Amino acid sequence: MGWYEHWLFPRILDLSMRNKEATRLRALVVPDARGATLEVGVGSGLNLRFYGDRVERLIAVDPSEELLRMARRKARTTAFPIEFIARPGEELPLEDNSVDSVVVTFTLCTVADPLKALREMRRVLKPRGEILFAEHGLAPDPAVARWQRRLNPLWRRVAGGCNLDRKMDDLIAGAGFRINKLTTEYAKGPRPMSYVYVSRASLA
Ligand SMILES: C[S@@+](CC[C@H](N)C(=O)[O-])C[C@H]1O[C@@H](n2cnc3c(N)ncnc32)[C@H](O)[C@@H]1O
Repeated sequence: MGWYEHWLFPRILDLSMRNKEATRLRALVVPDARGATLEVGVGSGLNLRFYGDRVERLIAVDPSEELLRMARRKARTTAFPIEFIARPGEELPLEDNSVDSVVVTFTLCTVADPLKALREMRRVLKPRGEILFAEHGLAPDPAVARWQRRLNPLWRRVAGGCNLDRKMDDLIAGAGFRINKLTTEYAKGPRPMSYVYVSRASLA
């Protein structure tokens, strides 16, 4: 891995994910986490400050060692213990039925095999647990969706493997979750990049 991927890209990602809209969306989902919580794709740790006092411990997973290093620095002030694990979401080193909440924000767009990762999240979630997510993805308007598909090959290359055209609710339901609440909207920003799905789902 070159200097760009190893050092510069994680810092660009951290800066770009600090935007106001992402922050607003984080605040809608992360505070609902409770008990033993798993965050898949923790990145540089921008969700950490949104966890509330119902979280007992956090397992923070991401394949990028450099992003995990950045997240560890933000973890110094959290009130609960955090275990950082350098692994992809498709291979969670956790027991079946072991977590109460799964949090995933702006990550399913990038995961190489989102269905496999979601099935892993389902496997580790306790029967009464919930997955909480805020993700961007495929827009319902045909003209926007056309642009998303057109731009996707280039976007993937410049945005670290991020895809614009994943239909998040279908992926989540396809992995065997029941969607309990879903709100969608165009957040501020260019429409192909800003159609967001904010949701909570449980085991079907
Ligand atoms: C756009 S960033 C979002 C980071 C963080 N969730 C946030 O909200 O700021 C996408 C994240 O997905 C992570 N990622 C990429 N492939 C992954 C995989 N297979 N499993 C889990 N996370 C992955 C990246 O390392 C990166 O941290």
